[in-house]
Amino acid sequence: MDANSNTSQFGELNPDLKSEQVREFEDKLYDRIVGQERAVRRLSGLFQIYQSGLTIPGRPIGNLLFLGPTGSGKTRLVEAAAEVLFGDERAFVKVDCGEFQHSHEIAKLVGSPPGYLGHRETQPALTQEALDQFHSDRLHLTLVLFDEIEKASDALWKLMLGILDKATLTLGDNRRVDFSRCIIVMTSNLGGSEISRMMMGTGLGFASATQKYDSDETDVSIYHTAVESAKRKFSPEFMNRIDKVIVFRPLRPEHLEKILDIELGQVQQRILNSQAENKFVFHCSEPARQFLLKEGTDPQYGARPLKRTIERHIVFPLANLTATRQITLGDFIRVDFDQDRNRLVFLKAQEGAIIHTAPLVAGAAPLSDDQLGKGVAVAEKVAAEEKPQIFPYTKFKVQ
Ligand SMILES: Nc1ncnc2c1ncn2[C@@H]1O[C@H](COP(=O)(O)OP(=O)(O)OP(=O)(O)O)[C@@H](O)[C@H]1O
Ligand SMILES: [Mg+2]
Repeated sequence: MDANSNTSQFGELNPDLKSEQVREFEDKLYDRIVGQERAVRRLSGLFQIYQSGLTIPGRPIGNLLFLGPTGSGKTRLVEAAAEVLFGDERAFVKVDCGEFQHSHEIAKLVGSPPGYLGHRETQPALTQEALDQFHSDRLHLTLVLFDEIEKASDALWKLMLGILDKATLTLGDNRRVDFSRCIIVMTSNLGGSEISRMMMGTGLGFASATQKYDSDETDVSIYHTAVESAKRKFSPEFMNRIDKVIVFRPLRPEHLEKILDIELGQVQQRILNSQAENKFVFHCSEPARQFLLKEGTDPQYGARPLKRTIERHIVFPLANLTATRQITLGDFIRVDFDQDRNRLVFLKAQEGAIIHTAPLVAGAAPLSDDQLGKGVAVAEKVAAEEKPQIFPYTKFKVQ
């Protein structure tokens, strides 16, 4: 039939439209993951396929390979997806391939065959119950992460080939495990150092890479560099079973700035959700943020050092301050940078200064999903309302 002959009888549909649930999933991932839009879109695409029921029978919902430099968000994306889908960032099945470098260690995953020494003691990790443990009435889906797969032994490869191709695994005692409701994600930083070198030119920091980064040409060569190093390492059978290879890009300074805000928001969230009595709100001034960024930036390690820097310069001092009751319930703490001493200082609005924030803190209701990952916005709101000329701060000494 001529495609144009009867168009008047047909209304055109929009195959690019995503369901509301998928859009929400994607938006929440964007709140948590910075600078890796392609990876987020792929994952949400698989979620859409799962939702529509159009998965291929007898295959996992999708097999994704995440490549790219260390500390660029490969593992974090799976954690964030678990958090969005199941409300807990640990709600996925994780196989640390580094723990299975010798073939005998595979028994920890599949159990030993009956009659073998240790048969009864070894509880396999990859049982059907383990896969289904996070299912709810609404969601029969499991995220399975094989982290750092380049470290896997041959025995683990063989096992994975079956899972990726037929969505089944046979345990030592012959029970079968069905992976057809799983999204399988494998991560590896193979090719990561070459990509970082390409991006950084001489390897001196992020700034020199800024212009290069955005060209399509660089984008294509990043992709090829990563895929070529994967092909050198993994067998063709293995590569053939992967639906999509996604290459994570090295993070740029503006990405790290956003990640800093997300991480500070998570610290705020931890404080508000903690069991401790002394719930409080803190806010970092711009110079304090810049100090954290400077301390926590190392082009070689992506966003990893940032997390450690926040723990060291924000979380530990705040813990000391609450333990010594210098911070008490309902306080508003401002974190600033003292240039002379080259360190952060902690200031508290004096008695009664932020009475208006008390209901927010004392109620201690968990933040809504919208605020999740944006806890700092709460602190900023409070900071916007604070009036330093009326409410002087008390300075703290951190041991
Ligand atoms: N793109 C990103 N968006 C938000 N946070 C990120 C991102 N990349 C890294 N992070 C932060 O850095 C931490 C480390 O990142 P992650 O564990 O995802 O690294 P990775 O890419 O898996 O590296 P590796 O190859 O070394 O395992 C995360 O827990 C998160 O806090
Ligand atoms: Mg990782």
